[in-house]
Amino acid sequence: MKKVLFKIKENIEIAENIFKMVLSGDTEEINKAGQFIDLKLSNYYLRRPISVSDFDDNSVTIVYKVLGKGTKFMTMLPRGHMIDALTGLGNGFDESKSGPSPLLIGGGVGIPPLLKLAKMFNEINVNPSIALGFNSEKDAFYIDEFKELSSKVLVASVDGSIGVNGFVTDVCEALIPSSFVYTCGPLSMLKSVYSFCEKYDIDGEFSFEERMGCGFGACMGCSTEARELDAQGEPTGKYISKRICKEGPVLCRKEILWK
Ligand SMILES: Cc1cc2nc3c(=O)[nH]c(=O)nc-3n(C[C@H](O)[C@H](O)[C@H](O)COP(=O)(O)OP(=O)(O)OC[C@H]3O[C@@H](n4cnc5c(N)ncnc54)[C@H](O)[C@@H]3O)c2cc1C
Ligand code: FES
Repeated sequence: MKKVLFKIKENIEIAENIFKMVLSGDTEEINKAGQFIDLKLSNYYLRRPISVSDFDDNSVTIVYKVLGKGTKFMTMLPRGHMIDALTGLGNGFDESKSGPSPLLIGGGVGIPPLLKLAKMFNEINVNPSIALGFNSEKDAFYIDEFKELSSKVLVASVDGSIGVNGFVTDVCEALIPSSFVYTCGPLSMLKSVYSFCEKYDIDGEFSFEERMGCGFGACMGCSTEARELDAQGEPTGKYISKRICKEGPVLCRKEILWK
């Protein structure tokens, strides 16, 4: 973990109430898709965790949805403003598990971390299939960016205003066979993806959100119960506690215990 003072390079609305912020500064500790950074906002005691959507040697991109006071405050931060962030947080996705035909399934603001993952697959000549779910066309973002990275991108929306009318899992069947699933999105979506993976016997990694205190493993505030896995990745029958900020936010399908 490293505390970094970033300079805001860009902070723009890319869909209704969804903003992209590009920060310039030290990204030494950011090295995996699926990690997150924890932003300190003046006047707010708790930091705000946001997934890394993209990064390079000196910049990091996040995409955030306005939900409450903290994210509303973030929309007002101008270009050039300095912002304190903890970096290098979370385990991230393990792209070595992907096999030849990974399927990336994202919903809403769970989509951003999958962009960097798709870029990483492109760099090693793996063509991922992509399923993106939105509530409505006005919430949609990053579709063109994913189309540049994959020849197989399908979109679903709950109100039918863009792509297939339905949930993101409704388009996933059209994207199999697939060797491994990587997914991030709202809990209800993760549960549906879990059922999809069980039905087709596909293994996967799921990224979770949890309310956080410290964000780096010290307070146990984000602990959740999980199945213990053996060295082969199979459940041992025992249960263990996992800190979503430290041993997560990405969990293997076989270790997930739904509350
Ligand atoms: C690992 C991780 C990655 C995330 N990545 C993204 C992302 O890429 N884009 C995005 O838009 N959102 C993401 N979130 C959710 C984001 O952290 C919350 O939307 C944000 O903290 C809300 O802050 P607020 O002040 O606007 O809302 P408020 O409701 O006013 O926040 C009150 C408190 O609750 C916490 N909180 C509220 N909602 C959440 C939530 N869903 N998860 C965790 N803490 C919450 C806040 O951090 C704050 O401490 C992520 C959450 C986690 C845990
Ligand atoms: S938020 Fe403190 S241990 Fe995870």
